[in-house]
Order: sequence, then C-alpha cells, then structure tokens
Amino acid sequence: MPKPIREGNGPRHVAIIMDGNGRWAQRRGRPRLFGHHAGAKRVREIVEACPDLGVRYVTIFAFSTENWRRTQSEVAGLMSLFRVRLDKKLVSLMDELELMTSGCTGVNLTIAINYGGRDEVARATRRLAQDVAAGKLDPDAVNEETLPKYLDTCVLPDPDLVIRTSGEARISNFLLWQSAYAEYEFIDTLWPDFCAEEFGRLVTAYGNRERRYGGVKA
Ligand code: FPP
Repeated sequence: MPKPIREGNGPRHVAIIMDGNGRWAQRRGRPRLFGHHAGAKRVREIVEACPDLGVRYVTIFAFSTENWRRTQSEVAGLMSLFRVRLDKKLVSLMDELELMTSGCTGVNLTIAINYGGRDEVARATRRLAQDVAAGKLDPDAVNEETLPKYLDTCVLPDPDLVIRTSGEARISNFLLWQSAYAEYEFIDTLWPDFCAEEFGRLVTAYGNRERRYGGVKA
C-alpha cells in the first residue's frame, strides 16, 4: 500500500461519493441491489485502510435527499442494507452505534444518509435565524465562521480530499459549504471495484498537490 509522500502531508479528512454500484451490477446482468451489496463490502476495506494512510476522518455519501426518487424496490433494498429505517428505530440504532464506538480512536467515520448539502445549509440558516430572533446572536457578528457551527458537520474538520467514483464529474449536492477548498478526484472506477490500493494512490497523489487557498506559493 503506498504511503503519503511526507509524514503528515496526506489528507486528514476524505469524503467519498460512492457512485457506480448500479452500473457495476447491470454490466453483469444483475439487479442494482446486487451492486449495492458489493459496494457495501468496499466500505469496510476503505475505512480499514485509513489508519495506515494517516486519514483520520472519512465521510461517505450513502443516500441523498434526492435518492428517494429511485424505484421503491431500490430504496427499500438500500434501507435494509443500512439495516435501518428512517424513523425512530434509525435514530436509536445510530445512537447505539455511536455509543458502542465512542471509545474508538482510529478513524472517525461519518455516513451521510438522507443528506443534501442545500438542505443542510437551509436548515443551518433557519437555526441561525432563530438564534438571531431570540436575541442569542448579533446579526452584525455573523461571519463565515458562524454558519459552520450550525451545520451537521460542526464537529468535523472540512474535507481535504473529495473522491467520486464512476466517471461522473459532479458533486451532486454533497458537502457544498465544507468542500469549498477541497481537492477533487473524479475517477472512472465503479465503486464496487474501488480497492484499498487505488485509494492509497489517491491519498498519495494528494500529498503532492499544492493547496494555496487563494494565496500564492510560499
Ligand atoms: C450521488 O449521485 C451519489 C450518492 C448520493 C451516493 C449514492 C450511493 C448509493 C445509493 C449507494 C450506497 C452505497 C452503498 C455502499 C450501499 P446521485 O446518483 O445521487 O446523483 P446524480 O444524479 O447527480 O448523479
């Protein structure tokens, strides 16, 4: 497995748009859900590769606010794959999972389910406006450090690297605010074929990039 070029030079937070499960299955003449099952196995492999690569945070896009438009059978299959339903059981299951893993220190895994970046920014803005209306927040003090405190990701650092598999070069409403200065990798590999070796190569390539944040090279 390739390592980042210089120690500490790799991405701390990698966000991944797992795309291509359906096409992977269709190419094999199988139903889309077959591809989702194959894709789920890759999640474990990629997360387990993180500690050696120096990646401390991984956020995966598992289901968007727009994915409800897919067929009822695909949505139902995905939900059972997540072993949850988006109801009270989901919340208690997630709470349980968070509690079970609260002592873990290796990798912080965030699974974005029923997530949409615009929806998140709208909800954050609503809460911010409520605080202004309640006199808890001075509108003149609102700056670009204020809104992130209201985002779902308030406890996470911004992603350094965003990977999308399957050849599409778009971000499909994923972490819109947070990825303003992220590096992007759009790769042709379909998600079920994305392996730890390829992930390692992308992490290594990140270490060779120069991030300027609008400034000039030092
Ligand atoms: C965005 O593309 C991609 C996502 C929201 C990820 C969706 C992934 C799954 C449903 C599979 C879940 C993964 C596993 C491993 C079970 P899009 O197709 O929603 O948006 P687009 O139409 O803009 O391409």
